Formats: sequence, C-alpha cells, structure tokens
Amino acid sequence: MGSVTRKPLIAGNWKMNLDHLQAVAFVQKLHWTLKDAAHETDSVEVAVFPPFTDIRTVQTLMDADKIPFALGAQDVSAKDSGAYTGEVSGAFLKKLDVHYVIIGHSERREYHAESDEIVAGKVQAALRHGLVPVICVGETLEQREESGPTAVSVAQLRAALEGVASDADIVVAYEPVWAIGTGQVASPEQAQEVCAALRSVVADALGDAAAERTRILYGGSVKSGNIASFMREPDVDGALVGGASLLADEFAAIIRYQKHVGV
Ligand code: 13P
Repeated sequence: MGSVTRKPLIAGNWKMNLDHLQAVAFVQKLHWTLKDAAHETDSVEVAVFPPFTDIRTVQTLMDADKIPFALGAQDVSAKDSGAYTGEVSGAFLKKLDVHYVIIGHSERREYHAESDEIVAGKVQAALRHGLVPVICVGETLEQREESGPTAVSVAQLRAALEGVASDADIVVAYEPVWAIGTGQVASPEQAQEVCAALRSVVADALGDAAAERTRILYGGSVKSGNIASFMREPDVDGALVGGASLLADEFAAIIRYQKHVGV
C-alpha cells in the first residue's frame, strides 16, 4: 500500500458522459451506496470530475446533502479571462468549489493537440487560481516499444512542472494510452515502475518533501477486480477511473478496495 502519509485518492473522470440531471441521480446513488461503508471509506478521498455543464448542479447537490466527495473539472484555460471563446477560466471553477482539475489528459493531447507547453500553461493557471492540477502523463504502445516504459511520462511531467513552486499542491496521474478504455490493463509492476520514476521527477523538480506528499495515481481500465493489486504498490496512491466510474455500484466497489487489499 501507499505511504501512510498520503491519503489515497480515487477519482472518477466522467469524460463526456452524464448530463446534469443524470449527474444528480448518479451522485445520489453513489453516496447512498457508500453510506454504510464509512469504516472502509473514511481513509480514502473520493473525487468526481463531471463535464463543465454539470458542475454547478453537482456542487449544489453535494453542498445541500453534505456529500463528502471532492469536485473536479476535466480541463481549464491557460488564460484568466478575456476573448477566448469556449474556454473556461480557473477563476470560474474556483467559485464553484472545484478543487481539482485534470490537465493534459491523453485525449486532450491527442484530439486537441495539447503540447507540453500548453499543459504547462494550464498547470500554472490552475495553481494561480488555487486549484489542484491532476497532471496526466503516459505513453502510447509505440512509444513504450521505442523508448521504454518511463521516458515519455518522465519528459511530460518534467515539462509540466517547469516553474512550479516547491510547496505547490499537485497530483500526478500515470495513464498509459494503451490501457485507456481498452480493457488492456497495465500490470501492477508496470504501474509501480513508472509511478516510482514520476516520484523521482517530482523530487528533482520540487524537492523531497513534495515527492513524499504528492499523490501519484494509476489510470487505465481500473475496475473493482484489479484496484486492490494497484493499491498494494508503494508508489501508487490512488486511481483515475474512466468507464468504471460511471457505474455507481462498480465505482463504489473500487472506492472500497481496502476490503480486498491483503486478501
Ligand atoms: P478507463 O478507466 O475507461 O480506461 O479510462 C481511464 C482514463 O482515461 C481516466 O482518465
């Protein structure tokens, strides 16, 4: 299991799924499913990352019903305000109690041509507005074959941490592109190898204390049946879950992974 000083984070990236009405039903169901499992979930932080159009509704619901999930967004503009049609400012997200923001997801790197420079600009914007960036890195299968398991992720994280202060609050997510939405999950050993390399990058860039406290997540075909095996690895501090985070029972079972750790 991860270090006791790092609280595990189980994060659900909904991607472009669930409208705001479906979001209400989903969050309520997830909350009710977990209600009687407090002894298993108290030590785990749960976060949901709905589409922008759901955030206001989910925030209102969680506030009214005292639902203890953290709220995240799936992207943020590198700019603060102005003539940037279609962009969403970190300032607006902060006003809606958004805590986390995913930056540099491989789907944005691929479909929106987000370069390392754009990712670094968004990390700076998130930190400027008091948001915690969840910095995503990961290699394609071709890149893994060409340059090995760690080189791409290490380079992406180094670029994203350019100019970041040593006391910054960040989360890193290792998501091998070949494991996202494919059912072809990385082995726990593969995840550990890259997550350990990423912790060294944080140590180099931000110092040992930052490396010790920063949570590094694994993402890519995480399910209730494999989460415990990842959480046993010393440098894996949680999971960024896509498809399985859209099913309340399945996501609740992932959050309750401790039931299976050590079994
Ligand atoms: P899947 O869990 O659907 O493979 O998606 C992973 C992911 O991209 C989370 O950000």
